Amino acid sequence: QIRKNSFMNIKLSKVKKSKISDVDFSNLGFCKYYTDHMFICDYEDKSWKNFRIVPFEDLKLSPACTTLHYGQTIFEGLKAYKNDNDDILIFRSDKNAKRFNISAHRMCMPSIPEEIFTDSINQLLNVEKDWVPSGKDNSLYIRPLMFAVDPYIGIKPADKYIFMIICGLAGGYYSEPVNVKIEKKYTRAISGGVGYAKTAANYAAALYPAVEAQKEGYHQLIWTDGKEHNYVEESGTMNLFFVINNTLITPPLGDTVLDGVTRDSIISVCSELDIKVEVRKISINEIIDSLDKGLMTEAFGAGTAATVAPIKTIGYNSKNYNLPKIDKSDYSQKILDYLNKIKFGKIEDKFGWVTKL
Ligand code: COI
Repeated sequence: QIRKNSFMNIKLSKVKKSKISDVDFSNLGFCKYYTDHMFICDYEDKSWKNFRIVPFEDLKLSPACTTLHYGQTIFEGLKAYKNDNDDILIFRSDKNAKRFNISAHRMCMPSIPEEIFTDSINQLLNVEKDWVPSGKDNSLYIRPLMFAVDPYIGIKPADKYIFMIICGLAGGYYSEPVNVKIEKKYTRAISGGVGYAKTAANYAAALYPAVEAQKEGYHQLIWTDGKEHNYVEESGTMNLFFVINNTLITPPLGDTVLDGVTRDSIISVCSELDIKVEVRKISINEIIDSLDKGLMTEAFGAGTAATVAPIKTIGYNSKNYNLPKIDKSDYSQKILDYLNKIKFGKIEDKFGWVTKL
């Protein structure tokens, strides 16, 4: 099963019996089902080794494992799609590889050669081909992760790490347009911090404020800058886009915002769709003012899991502002449709984003 052109020597141990017959393909949810196998390798003595594909199973870790205490861990999220010819298409794994190493650097973790990152995905998918679902809203969600494994209580970068990849079946992440609340009190990231790294700390720190907002009926928060809470940054699961006066506006990256692959793809495809984009700071005042005046016609989030997720309601200072209902002519829908066509190989991949397995 391991392709000959793999430059890693990967040991394959296959499951005795696949779990695939347990899957309800008409109702995938998001990562309700994991595939049969996972990729795993070790970082020891300053190099990556022991490449293996094994049955998806629990890990054995020391209770003193530094990740459990000090959180030296990073991850990625990307997707593979099945087209009408049953080809498997992987979207922008090279971009995820680069971001993974940016996160690794910030968290004092070893980098992983981009070829190991992308080829281990290809090799795992080669074994899990049958698991990539068909259907325009379905995909295989690929979750690479790295974490420290030293059994060590104390603060220092670990010496030993695991890099692994698991895959889960993905339908939609949000089943309906989302309600988001502009957060003025809590902070997701501050300049000089780890906001741009895809590390567990960012998600853990966001849980409490998000749960508070969920009690008020919101799905997610719109995070604002940690200094003055005046400018919007991102939503915990997605980057943000607003359409004001027919212009698509998204906040700039900097070190407090995750460099989303979907965000980057959207900015790129806008030139093909004749959509004017502005990457610039956007204040809460501008958002509320344009909502009040009816100048904001759309707002949406963008992420690998969430894809393009239209926003229904923006909450601010105990007031809810509703956005117009989704229409086929919305920028969000045109962009979603164009990106899907690239992902499923239905139009020319001008950007060179798709890898056929
Ligand atoms: C992704 O979009 O890949 C993420 O990691 C976000 C998470 C909500 C699943």
